[in-house]
Amino acid sequence: MITQETYTLSNDVKIPKLGLGTWFIEDKDVVQVVKDAVDLGYRHIDTAQAYQNERGVGEAIRACGVPREELFVTSKLAAEVKNYPDAVASIDKSLETMGLDYLDMMIIHSPQPWKEFRGDDKYYEGNRAAWKALEEAYQAGKLRAIGVSNFLQADLENILQSCTVKPMVNQILAHISHMPTDLIRFSQSHDILVEGYSPVAHGGLMKHDKVVEIAKAYDVSVPQLAVRYLLQKGLLPLPKSAKKAHIQNNADVDFEISEQDMATLDQAERVKDYGDANQMPVFQE
Ligand SMILES: NC(=O)c1ccc[n+]([C@@H]2O[C@H](COP(=O)([O-])OP(=O)(O)OC[C@H]3O[C@@H](n4cnc5c(N)ncnc54)[C@H](OP(=O)(O)O)[C@@H]3O)[C@@H](O)[C@H]2O)c1
Repeated sequence: MITQETYTLSNDVKIPKLGLGTWFIEDKDVVQVVKDAVDLGYRHIDTAQAYQNERGVGEAIRACGVPREELFVTSKLAAEVKNYPDAVASIDKSLETMGLDYLDMMIIHSPQPWKEFRGDDKYYEGNRAAWKALEEAYQAGKLRAIGVSNFLQADLENILQSCTVKPMVNQILAHISHMPTDLIRFSQSHDILVEGYSPVAHGGLMKHDKVVEIAKAYDVSVPQLAVRYLLQKGLLPLPKSAKKAHIQNNADVDFEISEQDMATLDQAERVKDYGDANQMPVFQE
């Protein structure tokens, strides 16, 4: 079962190969969703300060019945936090909100505040300050691993040149029809595990004719094909679902996509429609 398999981060911490995304799941609903996922074997949950459901995720982690050390919980430092004292306070706030003594990982959500995403100001100094706060929380045992999200090569280089602890993860938009291969290669060459967010293109892949056709040929759902594709690329997929049957379906990926079909999927036309999230800066690239 894929939920039992792990990748090993550069600091030797093990991270389950499949994570449950929780964006767009309200705090009041997320408790049951996370408990369902854990019942189904999931051991890795991805949340963020920005999702406003850290409280519920924390409650589920504490109440699910599986020992804390068997679970892997990630949260994200808000994209707008770009100075040291605010980052220190913000990390502690996440722990307090979640009611947890430590997080398995915390990552900087974006190199720039969302309103300036991919703008001219690269916030290099602010990211170094936020990173210092993460490093200190890591050294203090509050975080077992630290990383980044939505970082391009230059953003990564800014951290790599000045850090004392290298980022262990870069969480980026990666799905069939959108694989930033140069960035993936650069990250991996620095021992940075790449997590693929929106593996189903926020639902967009469900309407992609070529992808639907290949999924049918394997007698799997589009999300299963999408999850499997990322795993075969060495990425860590983070599919989101609030429905137990879908959560189960996304973990049922014990099949192999042929080399030929992988090559066809590599060439698939880019998804154009990210549904209700089309306006989000991360889908505008
Ligand atoms: N770091 C970042 O900046 C960033 C940005 C975006 C996302 N993320 C992370 O990545 C996670 C996933 O991304 P995402 O939420 O954008 O979208 P996604 O996982 O690509 O797609 C989710 C959509 O697919 C549907 N779905 C999932 N599994 C299904 C199945 N087996 N059958 C049918 N429908 C299925 C879900 O509906 P149902 O709920 O109805 O099943 C939902 O509409 C997020 O939750 C978050 O944790 C991170």
